Amino acid sequence: IFRLKIDEVSPLRARYKVPDVLIKEPTTQKLFISHKEAGNFVLSSVNEDYKLQVTANPFQIELQSKGETVMSMNSNGLLYFEHLQPPPSDRYSICLSLHFLFLFVQEKQEDLEWNSAFLSFTVISTGPTSVGIDFSLHGYDHVYGIPQHTETLLLKNTSDGDAYRLYNLDIFGHKIHDKIGIYGSVPLLLAHKPNRTSGIFWLNSSETLVDIITITLLSVSTVPLTDVRWMSESGIIDVFLLMGPTAFDIFKQFAQLTGTQALPPLFSLGYHQCRWNYEDEQDVKAVDAGFDAHDIPYDVIWLDIEHTDGKRYFTWDKQKFQNPRKMQEHLKKKKRKLVVIVDPHIKVDPSYTLYSQAKDKGYFVKDRNGQDFEGICWPGSSCYLDFTNPEVRKWYADQFAFKTYKASTNILFVWNDMNEPSVFKGAEITMQKDAVHYNNWEHREVHNLYGYYQQMATAEGLIRRSSGKERPFVLTRSFFAGSQKYGAVWTGDNTAEWSYLKISIPMLLTINMAGISFCGADVGGFIGDPEPELLVRWYQAGAYQPFFRGHSNMESKRREPWLFGEKNTQIIRRAIRERYVLLPYLYTLFYRAHTAAEPTMGTPLPWLCFLQIPVFQRGGTVIPLKTTAGKSTEWMTDISYELHVALDTEACAIGELYVDDGHSFQYLHKKQFLYRKFTFCKNILSSSSSRFKNMQEVVLKLQNSTQSKTSLAHIMWLKVYFISLYLKYDI
Ligand code: GLC
Repeated sequence: IFRLKIDEVSPLRARYKVPDVLIKEPTTQKLFISHKEAGNFVLSSVNEDYKLQVTANPFQIELQSKGETVMSMNSNGLLYFEHLQPPPSDRYSICLSLHFLFLFVQEKQEDLEWNSAFLSFTVISTGPTSVGIDFSLHGYDHVYGIPQHTETLLLKNTSDGDAYRLYNLDIFGHKIHDKIGIYGSVPLLLAHKPNRTSGIFWLNSSETLVDIITITLLSVSTVPLTDVRWMSESGIIDVFLLMGPTAFDIFKQFAQLTGTQALPPLFSLGYHQCRWNYEDEQDVKAVDAGFDAHDIPYDVIWLDIEHTDGKRYFTWDKQKFQNPRKMQEHLKKKKRKLVVIVDPHIKVDPSYTLYSQAKDKGYFVKDRNGQDFEGICWPGSSCYLDFTNPEVRKWYADQFAFKTYKASTNILFVWNDMNEPSVFKGAEITMQKDAVHYNNWEHREVHNLYGYYQQMATAEGLIRRSSGKERPFVLTRSFFAGSQKYGAVWTGDNTAEWSYLKISIPMLLTINMAGISFCGADVGGFIGDPEPELLVRWYQAGAYQPFFRGHSNMESKRREPWLFGEKNTQIIRRAIRERYVLLPYLYTLFYRAHTAAEPTMGTPLPWLCFLQIPVFQRGGTVIPLKTTAGKSTEWMTDISYELHVALDTEACAIGELYVDDGHSFQYLHKKQFLYRKFTFCKNILSSSSSRFKNMQEVVLKLQNSTQSKTSLAHIMWLKVYFISLYLKYDI
């Protein structure tokens, strides 16, 4: 891992450096100068495997591994670093907007108009502060990562459109294939080529844009190249270059910096049933009973915002939830759990203890005049806890103590939502950038960290309430690099359409690659009503995703798994039951994620099988092959056949073989061909031809494919060799 840090030598005030994300200050190794001449020198690692060539004018750094140039920085000369300046005049808000506009976004009229609409939110006390640099990735034309976008796994070229944006936003019903940032951001980009995977981790929590320009193979001799330009509104340049060389090395290197996935409590890998909202205690009990009546396993029932007393978190609606403790005892007896929502906005209400305490202690984010920042969210007028302050986090964690959180029990776990933070009527539905946090940092500096800190404090609270004995479960909507240490994430408000089911897969894979293994999408789609087949298919997909929760919007129709007819109930039951049968495997995967930073959700197959493309054979099939290849098909006539038998769960398989002279019409006119059906059952291979019934001369080789994940479905490989079986066409 190479780290490049660029800061001002003597800034007007210290620039923001992202705290609390690196698990520790990385240890460093000294490089030695292996070559030096005017305006350029080379730094080498002890064994000279890695070399950094630094050129002064123009400033460039080239990173080599064993003589191969892997990455270079500033090769396109796009390094810039806006120095802090004293406020020039009352025009400085415009100055920021224009700078930001010129440097980050294309100089388009509509952008100007868009930007000027938000002028009042872009005041900054030290002038424009943006930073950026370009990287050239040599030999690469495949780049991945930088979640969260509703995007394919492979990131697209941005030369003819918007850059990918990393800016946590609450976008209800977000569009598909959009480069705008949604709820969470992990500024980690991975680049992959046949012999190497590399990574760029850009440690910056302000609004960030990533431009990707790939120059692909034009002719055989041209090596592909991808230029990636990172631009952030503020902070410093603090970038980690992860050298791999394998994808798994990248995952480990990133985990060395930001930590591994917390090991979840086993129950949280089961199925979760959520809805906005389960109305009252009776509703909760009825849904819970429904799962038993329909013989469908589930672990957790969820309560959304309506369970509270007027959206005052940590309270209960007194009418609908008259005895929440009893309700939890009931669930506990059934060996089930409850998750409740706890959002970061606090209703402005002096009679609400949480509000009045936080106000007295000065724990809310401030506006630029030093007053508590007030925005609108679910409860109406709300203030926002300043989770960037460690004292606030400690106080917040204490709110989860059983004594403090009335009627909470040890089966109650937590869901953090709206923590981008979501501010209705705010610019882009979030907090103004000039709001002020702990230590006088403007919101623009810490924006992408807000949700990260809330989940951190919540997880800490759940650990503490059990005196450090129990693992927490906290789901968060907003996240940043390192959120894996605190729990799970989900992809927010998706729509009940097929395209959202499809996009959920690359979205979750991307989140996994960025270190957050425990992730899922709302099964069924949050907005709208899925047609039954979509719901069924979503269950079937969700059962194989790390976090598995059905959830739906207030306006949507009820959709508990048994409401779509017996046939669909049966299929959903089967999908959920399969999930439960797979739990030992899933749990083991999580252990690997926790201890070895391996993603739980399928790493792209070519990455696993470095330079090989895996081909899977369905269990229950027999596939005829030749034992070896020849120079051409004609050369292969006399090469013997091999049957690949992949067993199904009953240890059986069937397949066919068709052979003729390969070129004439004899097959038609004289029926000169062989067409055989093979059945393998009870360890005996039989064929539709009596000639092949006696299989003594067949060598059976049973291989239990322990490395293959498919072995989970009890599929074993069986190779049947026909020794020198020369087939004659007239038999
Ligand atoms: C947000 C969440 C959604 C939740 C709703 C009400 O839209 O994304 O999951 O149900 O708020 O709390």
